[in-house]
Amino acid sequence: MNFETLKVDIDKHVARITLNRPDKKNAMNPTLHVEMTELLEALRDEDDVKVLVITGAGNSFCAGMDLKEFFHELKVDNPKEFRRVFRMAGEWRGRTLRQYPKPTIAMVNGFCFGGAFSIVEGCDLALAAEEATFGLSEVNFRGFPGGPVSKSLANIMHPRDSLYYALTGRTFDGRKAAEIKFVNQAVPLAELERETMALAHEIAAKDSAALRACKDGYRFALEMTWDASISYTAAKEDEVYMAQSGGWIESGIGDFVKGKYKPGLQGNEKVEADS
Ligand code: COA
Repeated sequence: MNFETLKVDIDKHVARITLNRPDKKNAMNPTLHVEMTELLEALRDEDDVKVLVITGAGNSFCAGMDLKEFFHELKVDNPKEFRRVFRMAGEWRGRTLRQYPKPTIAMVNGFCFGGAFSIVEGCDLALAAEEATFGLSEVNFRGFPGGPVSKSLANIMHPRDSLYYALTGRTFDGRKAAEIKFVNQAVPLAELERETMALAHEIAAKDSAALRACKDGYRFALEMTWDASISYTAAKEDEVYMAQSGGWIESGIGDFVKGKYKPGLQGNEKVEADS
């Protein structure tokens, strides 16, 4: 897979996607949105890939939308193409990541501005460098968190934090991002890659059907009534059972019932032994 704006490395069932425009702080230009849409589609049914990690090249995770190429050139000069790319730009960070059949992890290695908040929010998990700089800078250029960003803020941030940072445009670091739960954890930059990849490989060792059901059961429940959610997860249990040819009931719970292991304390060892 060759892309102008992205780099992909696959290692032990983990695909690491690097936003690769370091000279532009990995700002998302129209090409990046088109390529990311293609890449996510290509990896969706790639059996060798069980977890995605999204990060940025150089000292930036992502500086948000490419303000020059996206707003100055495309929006003004080619409004029809702008609308097409605008839809794509919202779709991959929103619905595609949210409903992606595999777990996704944002590895925030540096600058994270504006539109990049939607990547972090769209991913299931996020780790940041303590030194990373986050900011909803839009108000500083007389804009506001547009596209999917306002909805991302409403989904994941406390209302006080969302409006505080959106109204002031002030920055915060990775430690603060972890404190307000915008990311799961912040670690020193020197440890970020090791921590993130260890987490990705730990998750990749789990059963794929179970991982997908974890995501679907949670994500869709957010928009369902209680009754609809119970009905959905009942059907999902049967779907997982069929996908694993009975795995989670027969060997999964079955081995516990026979006293062979304790799932509360043992995870990957059991799955690895089965596969
Ligand atoms: N869109 C387009 N180009 C961008 C960009 C963006 N969002 N962010 C950075 N770049 C470009 C710069 O224009 C510069 O290009 P040049 O070398 O051709 O002049 C290059 O990336 C390096 O940026 P620079 O500003 O020199 O680096 P810095 O380390 O001093 O500052 C930032 C980095 C990210 C703090 C600063 O570039 C910035 O404020 N960018 C805008 C961030 C933003 O508001 N994003 C929200 C978009 S929704």
